[in-house]
Amino acid sequence: MSSAPAKQIDDPRWPRVDEYAARTLLKGDPALDAAIAASDAARLPPINVTPLQGAFLHVLARTTSPRAILEIGTLGGYSTIWLARALEPGGRLVTLEYERTHADVARANIDRAGVGDRVEIKVGKAIDALPSLAGPYDFVFIDADKPTTKEYFEWAVKLARPGTVIVVDNVVREGAIADENTKEEGALGMRRFLEAAGRDARVTISVLQTVGAKGYDGFAVAIVR
Ligand code: SAH
Ligand code: DHB
Ligand code: MG
Repeated sequence: MSSAPAKQIDDPRWPRVDEYAARTLLKGDPALDAAIAASDAARLPPINVTPLQGAFLHVLARTTSPRAILEIGTLGGYSTIWLARALEPGGRLVTLEYERTHADVARANIDRAGVGDRVEIKVGKAIDALPSLAGPYDFVFIDADKPTTKEYFEWAVKLARPGTVIVVDNVVREGAIADENTKEEGALGMRRFLEAAGRDARVTISVLQTVGAKGYDGFAVAIVR
């Protein structure tokens, strides 16, 4: 069984609308389905972005005509596949993952999806890999250990060009981010990140709250000036 905490769905309309929109908008996709099946079989925690969120990331990435994408937090490569498909011809994606077992599952999933030639998985702590990367990256997705998000965002801006879009997952945490009594380290980490980003003249940034099959959460979306 997975170690992920149970998703809290406060309203049955949230997963219902996710199912409706996914059924209506998304095509059947054997490679993505196989990636989830293989991740489940390997007992990876089911904390990948949802299909609709993957499509959202893909659309947003496409607006930057990306030749280089950076992802922090690979898991089984589900979001990686959506993002790699957004690359311009000849483009490259680098994804950073701490857990060797996750990276191995991701490698197989990404290769099966036919984008393996474009994707490099770097195994180890993201904070140790970031100083060796050469930008500029056109799109960055931050979705790893939440307390380190402020530092990851700093690196993303450092590795960016004007117009780079940076997306951060899980910034709302069922509203914990605005609960002054929260002890949840992820929420505290996101607050630390957002308070720094709000003072950072190099970026324009917003938070978009989300509901759906993964409960109540949200993305931060930033553009580098
Ligand atoms: N982006 C994925 C989900 C990532 S889950 C998707 O949507 O499909 C978060 C991942 O970050 C996990 O695989 C976890 O092992 C990894 N992680 C945690 N701490 C890390 C660190 N310090 N450096 C790199 N990866 C880390
Ligand atoms: C959880 C969800 C995520 O999307 C993630 O990246 C990490 C953890 C969670 O629900 O615990
Ligand atoms: Mg996430």
